[in-house]
Order: sequence, then structure tokens, then C-alpha cells
Amino acid sequence: MNTRRIALITGGAKGIGGACSRLFHQNGWQVAILDVDNLGGQLANELGEGAMFIHCDVSKEAQVKSAIEEIKSEFNGIHALIHSAGIQRYSTVTETSEEEWDLVMNVNLKSAFLCAKHAIPQIQEAGGGLVALVSSVQAFISQNNVAPYTTSKTAMLGLTRSIAVDYGPKIRSVAICPGTVDTPMFRSSIAQSPDPNEVYQECVDMHLSQRIGTPEEIAELILFLAEGKASFITGQAIRIDGGLGIKIGGSKRD
Ligand SMILES: NC(=O)c1ccc[n+]([C@@H]2O[C@H](COP(=O)([O-])OP(=O)(O)OC[C@H]3O[C@@H](n4cnc5c(N)ncnc54)[C@H](O)[C@@H]3O)[C@@H](O)[C@H]2O)c1
Repeated sequence: MNTRRIALITGGAKGIGGACSRLFHQNGWQVAILDVDNLGGQLANELGEGAMFIHCDVSKEAQVKSAIEEIKSEFNGIHALIHSAGIQRYSTVTETSEEEWDLVMNVNLKSAFLCAKHAIPQIQEAGGGLVALVSSVQAFISQNNVAPYTTSKTAMLGLTRSIAVDYGPKIRSVAICPGTVDTPMFRSSIAQSPDPNEVYQECVDMHLSQRIGTPEEIAELILFLAEGKASFITGQAIRIDGGLGIKIGGSKRD
């Protein structure tokens, strides 16, 4: 009988999701990588036995449903849903078109609902497990030009609580809220600026840690939770952000 645990990782081709795919697999989990980027197929091949890739737009219910059926027949269940797929767009409320608003909400938020909707029955059948939704520190603090993004990330906290309340205690649900993390998303964001190096340094300086995060350390937190360590945690938003946004001015020490 197959006793390996199974993780469904959306956005699992690269960035934070990619680091989760690698780390979970290294730790003996079977991993199902769902992504719109075929790099996920290369990663699954590289990982080898116990890894599969399904090309899936997680904002589309039919695709999510069919992917989860495929995981069930290939791996026989799900123990953890890690939802890391997401996109960043830059605009204020008055500049955001209805199409752009819908796109960000669909890819970041509706997808979390759809993946949870179809994965939860599988996690229940497997005896319980974890739903981890990758939100952001932008669920708590904001910056200019991120109206749809910050809204989608904040709403994910409500969804996290609903899942914890409705499906606990067997299913625990957490929102993971990273500060700036060095991923392809971050690199393409700073590349839009005339001076990417300057923006990179600004990001470093914003964090008390005086560095930005790595995808691997976000994956470590998610694995810790998925493996049932500190399993008294549920329904919470967990910030992993190098102290971003906790420092106020007004009292200078030489
Ligand atoms: N990088 C950061 O600084 C940072 C900070 C806080 C939160 N986050 C969040 O972490 C998550 C992962 O971000 P990242 O930085 O690793 O991004 P990334 O762009 O490096 O990786 C995201 C992955 O999601 C996939 N994806 C996008 N739309 C999809 C869709 N419709 N269906 C399936 N897959 C899709 C992409 O192809 C990509 O492989 C996102 O939700 C992001 O909002 C990132």
C-alpha cells in the first residue's frame, strides 16, 4: 500500500511553489504540480518518481476539477493543498480596468476557492491535513499601485478562516504571508523599474532582516505545518517577512 503523503502544489513550477515542490519531494512526499507554465513538467521530470505535472489554469473550475481527478487516480488522494499560484499587477483603483480587476481576483482568489473546494473532499478522505494559501504581507500593509493585488491577498485571510472553521479539526488552514521573496515574480516586478538595482536595495532596506526572503525558507514553513508540527495552529495568517512593517520612527538611538 502507498503510504507516502501527497501534496497538491499550485504555481508549483517556480518561485515559492517551485521551492515547495522540491522540498516536499525531498522529504518523501509525492507532489502534484499544477501550473500554466510547462516548466512544471521539466521540474516533475527532474524530481522523478513521485512527481507529476498537470498543465492547469487554477482560475478555471473545469480544469481544477479534472486535475484533482487525475491526482486521485495517479496518486490516490491528497494530504496537503499548497496554493501558491498568483499574479501581481500594478494599478490604483481609478486606473484599474474591470478586466484587470477580474483577472487578479480570479487568479489569486477565486483559484484558492476552487482548489480548496475540490481538494478538501480528498483531504477529508485521506483522514485530514493542511490547506495553505499563500497570501502576502499585503494582507496587512500596502504600497502604492497595488489595489487589486492587495485586495485579493486580504480576502484570502477570510477564506483561510472559513476553511478552518468549517472543516476543522481534521483540516487545518493557514494563510502564509511572505514579505519580499526573491522569485521570478519579484525579478520581473523590479525589471519594470528604470533602475532595478535601486528597487532591489530599497526592498532589502525595508526588511529588519536587511535582506529579502528566499523561496526555500517559505517552503520550509509550509512543510513544517503540513507535517503536523505545532498542529495547534489553524485559521491563522502567519507572517514570514523579515520584520517588514513593524518598525516605526520617532525615537532615534545613536
Ligand atoms: N515573491 C514575493 O515577493 C511574494 C511576496 C508575497 C506573496 N507572494 C505570493 O506568493 C505566491 C507565489 O509567488 P512567486 O513570487 O513564487 O511567483 P512566481 O511568478 O515566481 O510563481 C508563481 C507561479 O504561479 C503560476 N501561475 C500564475 N497564474 C496561474 C494560473 N492561472 N494557474 C496556474 N498557475 C499559475 C506561474 O506560472 C508561476 O509558476 C503568489 O501568490 C504571490 O502573490 C509573493
